[in-house]
Amino acid sequence: TGSARDFLPARLSLPALRAAADGCHGCPLYRNATQTVFGAGPTGARLILVGEQPGNDEDIAGAPFVGPAGRVLDQALEQAGIARDDAYVTNVVKHFKWEGRGNRRLHKKPSAREVGACLPWLEKEIELIRPEVLVCLGATAAQALLGRSFKVTQQRGVLLPDERVPHVLATVHPSSILRQRTSADRRAEMARFTADLEVVADALN
Ligand code: URA
Ligand code: SF4
Repeated sequence: TGSARDFLPARLSLPALRAAADGCHGCPLYRNATQTVFGAGPTGARLILVGEQPGNDEDIAGAPFVGPAGRVLDQALEQAGIARDDAYVTNVVKHFKWEGRGNRRLHKKPSAREVGACLPWLEKEIELIRPEVLVCLGATAAQALLGRSFKVTQQRGVLLPDERVPHVLATVHPSSILRQRTSADRRAEMARFTADLEVVADALN
């Protein structure tokens, strides 16, 4: 079985990595997706935000967090006083995994094998950017980077030491806010998400 490792460029740079990821066939997910959605943001970013995988809108646009979850993220970042343009934003898995429902494409959670196959891209992004803070958005990112037993519900919003970067913090995925049933619940979860990002903002100040 393959992985992204088979497609890494000989000389590592962010542009070389991005170009190589365009042609990645390290797992079957490239087959049903429009394009690779690589990370976006400045090379010198002090903050890296890691989601799960591109959604429908990201698959079409070719950029991470541009759809509904991205709008929630943008709003929370702004409330926390973090400029999105200063952050490098990426995902654990670089291709959109979906299942058809009528004429809609519904997000499907990537398997552990797909996460493992794609992880070399993220590891190299982190190595090249060397941010001060890495934020895991949701359980897929947190478990891929912090271990399968990591529980976002129990360990969210706390700065943790890490071998790769000075600080890691895990929080919920912005789409979990969109899934709240009532507007009161959405408001409450948005406030908690923003509070977690304020911890990140403080660490950067
Ligand atoms: N959800 C993610 O995890 N990443 C995106 O880029 C968009 C939605
Ligand atoms: Fe390669 Fe990742 Fe896409 Fe699989 S999901 S083909 S490993 S870039």
